[in-house]
Amino acid sequence: MTEKTLAIIKPDAVKKNIIGRIIQRIEDEGFKIAAMKMLHLTKDEAKGFYIVHKSRPFYEDLTNFMSSGPAIVMTLERDDAIAHWRQVMGATDPAQAKPGTLRREFGFSVERNATHGSDARETAEWEIAYFFKK
Ligand code: RTP
Ligand code: MG
Repeated sequence: MTEKTLAIIKPDAVKKNIIGRIIQRIEDEGFKIAAMKMLHLTKDEAKGFYIVHKSRPFYEDLTNFMSSGPAIVMTLERDDAIAHWRQVMGATDPAQAKPGTLRREFGFSVERNATHGSDARETAEWEIAYFFKK
């Protein structure tokens, strides 16, 4: 069933000039890019986006990183979009991610891991609404 997910090309990947390669992969995987913009998150916007992680030890580092430079945020549409995008990204830690996944190919560390993807229907809806008006 057609579903939407929120994808982010994180600041590390934007800095490395690999936006195009990641978007090519998104299109090759059959996703339709339904919405897209580049933005430089403020620290507060990054904290709001990752509010579910507010009590985790990496919250401060993560939100500093996510507000360190421009990122690309996108709404992706496809059959089974949420699970499929997470499969294309691979494991959170690039060292654990399978060969051929974006994080394995482009990620640098568990934090600087190139891309983000929603993890469930409700979070996808919330994350899309965080960046895009209806
Ligand atoms: P994401 O939300 O970015 O798609 O990644 P994920 O679901 O695979 O991982 P999640 O547990 O939601 O963590 C969100 C992001 O926080 C950073 N992180 N750092 N230092 C650490 O141990 C650590 N753990 C997670 C990563 O950037 C991760 O993508
Ligand atoms: Mg997550």
